[in-house]
Amino acid sequence: MEYFEIEGGRPLNGIVKISGAKNATFPILSAALLIDGKTRIKKVPGVIDVINFINILKGLGVKIEENKGEITIDATGNIKSKIDHKKNHNLRGTQTLLGALMGRNKEAILPSLGGCNIGARPIDLHLKGLKELGTTISWKGGYLRAKAKKLIGSSIYLDFPSVGATENLIIAATKADGTTILENTAREPEIENLIDFLNKAGANIQTKRPGVIYIKGVKKLHPIDFTLIPDRIEAATYLIMGAITRGDITIKDVRTQDFEPVIMKLKEMGAEIETNNNEVHLFADGRFKSVNIKTLPFPGFPTDAQPQIMSLMSVSKGTSIITETIFENRFRAAEGLQKMGASIRIEHDTAIVTGTERLNSANVTATDLRGGAALITAALAAKGTSKILDISHVDRGYEKIEEKIKKLGGHIERKNDNI
Ligand code: EPZ
Repeated sequence: MEYFEIEGGRPLNGIVKISGAKNATFPILSAALLIDGKTRIKKVPGVIDVINFINILKGLGVKIEENKGEITIDATGNIKSKIDHKKNHNLRGTQTLLGALMGRNKEAILPSLGGCNIGARPIDLHLKGLKELGTTISWKGGYLRAKAKKLIGSSIYLDFPSVGATENLIIAATKADGTTILENTAREPEIENLIDFLNKAGANIQTKRPGVIYIKGVKKLHPIDFTLIPDRIEAATYLIMGAITRGDITIKDVRTQDFEPVIMKLKEMGAEIETNNNEVHLFADGRFKSVNIKTLPFPGFPTDAQPQIMSLMSVSKGTSIITETIFENRFRAAEGLQKMGASIRIEHDTAIVTGTERLNSANVTATDLRGGAALITAALAAKGTSKILDISHVDRGYEKIEEKIKKLGGHIERKNDNI
């Protein structure tokens, strides 16, 4: 099994280029199923979940050519409606294929989704919305079966601003008969990127006001060239790594408006940060102050940056409180951090973090994608050499992470204990 060996205590200095957004890739590649002809998508991140997703699309009959982050995708011809779970084990991010196959084939047969290390990941809101568009849902032999004679525009209120449900319903409604009104939608930048993609291809989608989206069904979409937005969570992660190692880093190719809460919180903790339209420069030379954080749907503080900032809080002055309102099991990094000497108490949806002068190196295991990033962040600042095991979690969502950290002066090696 591969692991990272990290020698901590070195400030990260220099420039890091941010990759395209993993969480924009899935809905946009899914939406490409609605387009006949060759669409070209740029800045596709080479992370495990995306590589798996592309293989699943190929298995459905989609023609895909890849060339270093640029892919052409052509869904012309017969596209299967069933994803076979015997062939596809990693289904992360595939939820938007539900809306895309419904929009394309009026049928979708998917292995039952949901359930991962950070929470149950139900899709009840996705299904409620699809039913309101005319879909019948059934379950058989571990597969979800969705079918519709046709999709008819409807008014749908989302009980929770679910990112995936918003994406699925936008995609399914794009070619429905009539107009669909979505209320209380998610407002993440990846949603805006999906809407831009579909409108550029000929859809008619309008954000009437934040959280309210009108989708006027169209008959046909045409192929386009499109570039994904930068990965705001990758950007946030490197900023926090720069902060915890008291470094001086510049992250490039970002949209600062996409991760404003992280920038504001780091400033509150004592980092010196300058931003211009697509760059952020962070300088940190002392111990940080504690802060309180509550994760919320966008534009609130992103849950996907919560474990990483918990690492920073672990070596800040005073006590910080984190309230996690999005996922029910997203404090799993605390276990590894405690092994490194962090003082963290978990009470239901709250983590109380009492900062200590310095963490010590340890051998710790990544439990999930952002939890793994949090342990790497902590190990970069800890005294001594740490091992981070089970880094397959991290490879799911961070492109070339050890190369990018090395370029910033961090001492990190990918090794294999051949177990
Ligand atoms: C997306 O997940 C992201 N994943 C997640 O990023 C991110 O943490 C999350 O949005 C919130 O921002 C992708 O885009 C691939 P949700 P998603 O539906 O769509 C509950 C990462 O680290 N819910 O907004 O699954 C759900 O259980 C990943 O990159 C329902 O109850 O998130 C959760 O508690 C992790 N019923 C909350 O809503 C539903 O039908 C947020 O889920 C749907 C969701």
